[in-house]
Amino acid sequence: MEINGSSAIITGGASGLGEATARKLATDGVRVTVFDRNEARAKEVVAEIGANANFIAGDVTDPDDCQKAVDQAADGGNLRIVVNCAGTGWVGRVINRDGSPHELGMFQFIQTLNVIGTFNVMTRAASAMATIEPQANGERGVIVNTASVAAFDGQIGQLAYSASKGAIVGMTLPAARDLAVVGIRVLAIAPGLFDTPLLAMLPDEARDALAQSVNFPKRLGDPAEFGELVAHIAKNSYLNAEVIRLDGGIRMPPK
Ligand SMILES: NC(=O)c1ccc[n+]([C@@H]2O[C@H](COP(=O)([O-])OP(=O)(O)OC[C@H]3O[C@@H](n4cnc5c(N)ncnc54)[C@H](O)[C@@H]3O)[C@@H](O)[C@H]2O)c1
Repeated sequence: MEINGSSAIITGGASGLGEATARKLATDGVRVTVFDRNEARAKEVVAEIGANANFIAGDVTDPDDCQKAVDQAADGGNLRIVVNCAGTGWVGRVINRDGSPHELGMFQFIQTLNVIGTFNVMTRAASAMATIEPQANGERGVIVNTASVAAFDGQIGQLAYSASKGAIVGMTLPAARDLAVVGIRVLAIAPGLFDTPLLAMLPDEARDALAQSVNFPKRLGDPAEFGELVAHIAKNSYLNAEVIRLDGGIRMPPK
């Protein structure tokens, strides 16, 4: 797909994987709309990227915010790229150390943010994309959702997180099938361990230990490597309905 001159919406674009994606797509001539609830940071990122970027503050769990964000991205030109990076993790076992059951509220919170947030943006964006002019090969655009290796290698304490990322994996094929008729591809990336603010919270020794657990190269992933993959997925029209692990070959142990 030719991406130069098109528009993209990137949720969670004010930090980590989303931020790196926004920066990369902008250098490839894409007009990027950063949609993030962290307005202050979104403003900074967009100012650094320059003329090819704009932001909208909002919450991916709120359907109205998502519609506004999609409208803003679509206003600026043909919306052809959607990247869902807003999300977070949570640690909690089926039964807590004191024998009490996993709290329902946090389980629901993680599904609402990671799954329903992705659903909200994917559905609204697809609806807008379906109305734009296709390119010569019939293609209108691409949606890239963010899963995690935790969808496959869920560790102890990842019940809620793995469930949410498994849902992202599970939506990939049916969404790609639903949207084939309008020339929209759907993929997911399952990142391993990336050096983003999410992991920066850990002490250095814990980060070093995580880096050593990667098959090769023995380091955390650079968010720019995630952005590069998104750009490649967008350009390569024959990639569709797939979940791509981007993880240095890591297979997560039970803990
Ligand atoms: N960093 C990793 O190693 C890693 C590994 C696997 C999967 N992931 C997934 O990648 C995605 C991005 O992770 P990251 O490491 O870049 O995290 P991050 O915390 O650096 O960035 C997440 C961004 O999402 C935004 N956000 C959170 N909730 C939101 C909401 N309700 N509405 C709008 N914006 C919201 C935050 O403000 C933040 O800017 C997440 O889904 C995460 O689960 C990350």
